[in-house]
Amino acid sequence: MIPVNEPLIGKKEIEYVLDCLKTGWISSAGKYIQEFEEKWAAYCGMKYGIAVSNGTTALEPAVACIDLNPGDEIIMPTFTIISCALAVIRNKGIPVLVDSDPRTWCMNVTQIEEKITPKTSAIMPVHIYGHPVDMDPVIELAKKYNLIIIEDAAEAHGAEYKGRKCGSLGDISCFSFYANKIITTGEGGMVLTNNKEYAEKARSYRNLCFKQDRRFYHTELGHNFRLTNLQAAIGVGQLERIDELVEKKRWIGQSYNERLKDIPGLSLPVEEPWAKSVFWMYGIVLDESTGINAVDFSGRLRDRGIITRPFFLGMHEQPIFHQMGFFKEENYPVTKRLARQGLYLPSGLTLTEKQINETCQTIKDLQKN
Ligand SMILES: Cc1ncc(COP(=O)(O)O)c(C=O)c1O
Repeated sequence: MIPVNEPLIGKKEIEYVLDCLKTGWISSAGKYIQEFEEKWAAYCGMKYGIAVSNGTTALEPAVACIDLNPGDEIIMPTFTIISCALAVIRNKGIPVLVDSDPRTWCMNVTQIEEKITPKTSAIMPVHIYGHPVDMDPVIELAKKYNLIIIEDAAEAHGAEYKGRKCGSLGDISCFSFYANKIITTGEGGMVLTNNKEYAEKARSYRNLCFKQDRRFYHTELGHNFRLTNLQAAIGVGQLERIDELVEKKRWIGQSYNERLKDIPGLSLPVEEPWAKSVFWMYGIVLDESTGINAVDFSGRLRDRGIITRPFFLGMHEQPIFHQMGFFKEENYPVTKRLARQGLYLPSGLTLTEKQINETCQTIKDLQKN
């Protein structure tokens, strides 16, 4: 079997985790938390880092920071994970959707302005599968309409937009460190910001909104979204070789590109001239002329020992949101097509050239039949 993903855990991660175990700092206090927060923030070029339990629980305090009034709107791509919409709904806001750009699969930034209303508070760009959103138009609109940018960089560790790191392009950004991410803590996430007030709010929200001067006294409702020192220790170890991990992902992306470019009926990921993509997951989109959809193609690859995943299903097609009265008559054709025809190939950090060759040869053989 060629797995869709496998983390790469090294000696340092083991050494630092053992240090936690030996010293007893196994919970959410301990030196690795602060070290991970400071080092990740510095790597991305942001001032404050607030480590949390996963990428989903990073988005919720990020939205809470901007104090939505009930019914306030946040514009986001429909082609993303449910975590983005959840964070808005759990803060009593309304997610407002735009379609995908057919080249990068990220949000189509030319569709944002028509969705802005007096209720719009923020824009949430999501860098999809390691490729950055075209951020300049987003930043311009945010300035023009006085909107906050909450960047979801959960899939884009080390990716760059015009030389600037993803995660440093908005007012607040969020990362995931799930096991399939470019650096992992097993489960984990982080909120980054340059705004001291947002940082304090997010820090308080992740820890039950305890008052600093009076511990069991509460004036707001928070959550326990804390990361453990054990997890942060893995993150510190991973971060020491992030450049190598990013390069490996880019090598995987380029290797697939070279081997798949001449196969008819496939669209491959692009890297726009202003982008440094990290090819977090290497996606392909099957042309309808191939007569096969992503779920069936993924099944055929699985039968031959190659594990892949069909793309996201857009938020506008989620039954739970229709039940809640959201997005009922809305139609986003680019996302709809990506959801039916797109899948990502084995992309893990342990992937070998032999496995890439085998995957590409199998795709070629399947395309012939
Ligand atoms: C774009 C995006 N945002 C948020 C998340 C949520 O992260 P987590 O799985 O750590 O909760 C993910 C997960 O992969 C994601 O892809």
